[in-house]
Amino acid sequence: MTSLKEIKEEVLGEEKQKMVEETDNEKIEKAEKKKKKEEKETKISDLPGIGPAALQKLEDAGIFDLMGVAVLTPGELADMAGLGEAVARKAIQAARKMMSLGFQDGMEFSERRKEVGFISTGSKNLDNLLGGKGIETKAITEAYGAYGSGKSQLGFTLAIRVQLPLEMGGANGKAVFIDTEGTFRPERMKQIATGFGLNPESVLKNIFVARAFNSDHQILLLDKIGEMIKNGEPIKLIVIDSLTAHFRAEFSGRGMLADRQQKLNKYLHNIMKIAEQYNIAVYVTNQVMANPGMMFGDPTTAIGGNIVAHASTYRLYLRRGKKGSRVAKMIDSPNLPENETIFFLSTKGVTDEEAEAVVDE
Ligand SMILES: Nc1ncnc2c1ncn2[C@@H]1O[C@H](COP(=O)(O)OP(=O)(O)OP(=O)(O)O)[C@@H](O)[C@H]1O
Ligand SMILES: [Mg+2]
Repeated sequence: MTSLKEIKEEVLGEEKQKMVEETDNEKIEKAEKKKKKEEKETKISDLPGIGPAALQKLEDAGIFDLMGVAVLTPGELADMAGLGEAVARKAIQAARKMMSLGFQDGMEFSERRKEVGFISTGSKNLDNLLGGKGIETKAITEAYGAYGSGKSQLGFTLAIRVQLPLEMGGANGKAVFIDTEGTFRPERMKQIATGFGLNPESVLKNIFVARAFNSDHQILLLDKIGEMIKNGEPIKLIVIDSLTAHFRAEFSGRGMLADRQQKLNKYLHNIMKIAEQYNIAVYVTNQVMANPGMMFGDPTTAIGGNIVAHASTYRLYLRRGKKGSRVAKMIDSPNLPENETIFFLSTKGVTDEEAEAVVDE
């Protein structure tokens, strides 16, 4: 029989536990409040050289906070806000200082991490490069590289793998595939699905494909996704293949670069908001351009400059390797080392198995 004392102790124990939990919650709340307060206290208008006109121009470009300014280059800010480059440089430096970029509240960080889910790429090597379990929810993973490097194939594979249960490296969810170049191939999806032993028809039903005809359309589709999620669709992955192609084609003149970057910046900002709000993984592909100023090393640079670079949580550079392999390199990730690994493209999509790879060189 349980004595009164024991019952008392049990209840007290629970109370104590509650108190500990409460203090933890309080701490988190406090940290959040503090951060919000700091954000409120320092505004773009506090930056040197940013007057009301410049402020308005920045807002029109979708830049509302210090972070938005901190990630720009002086040239970009100068164009966007109609400032001289020297003034722009000072403002950016000030923004970076005020934000003490790079540091994140530890409590806040661990809270965010608790909810994060993963989708395996199908290659252990590639998963490890990404930190162990594949691409993350609440993050944008970008793959850039030349044609045929495997960017789309990785997108196809993820759109299927997201449907797998958690214990199989999936996220038990559906995928949205925004196709800007008409590269989505249902036959290829069926092939990969069959390779997994899945029913190809039901796999295809769980992927919402939308062809984006221009950059405005591409942007509009994002609102649609928000609606679908609100209507209860368990979307866990958004693939945008390609993120930049329309932007690049439509804003091709030199004088249009600033407009393009503004639009892309706003778009990426909204993508990240959806990813965070609904705990969704986002995978985007990006083209490369030859870099004429570079004599040695890899002569390719990703489109979209540092706006895309900064918005992407993880950046992979993909290229063809030996014997039909593909090489993936992690480029400036916040918490992972710069590493390289190989994977293969097969009938099952992305894999580690060389034997299944198709060599087409
Ligand atoms: N069924 C398949 N089995 C094995 N490998 C395949 C299969 N289909 C395509 N591939 C491989 O995928 C390559 C194409 O890769 P992918 O379409 O992902 O390139 P990409 O990086 O998206 O290029 P782009 O910039 O042109 O869009 C082909 O060259 C081939 O090696
Ligand atoms: Mg492609």
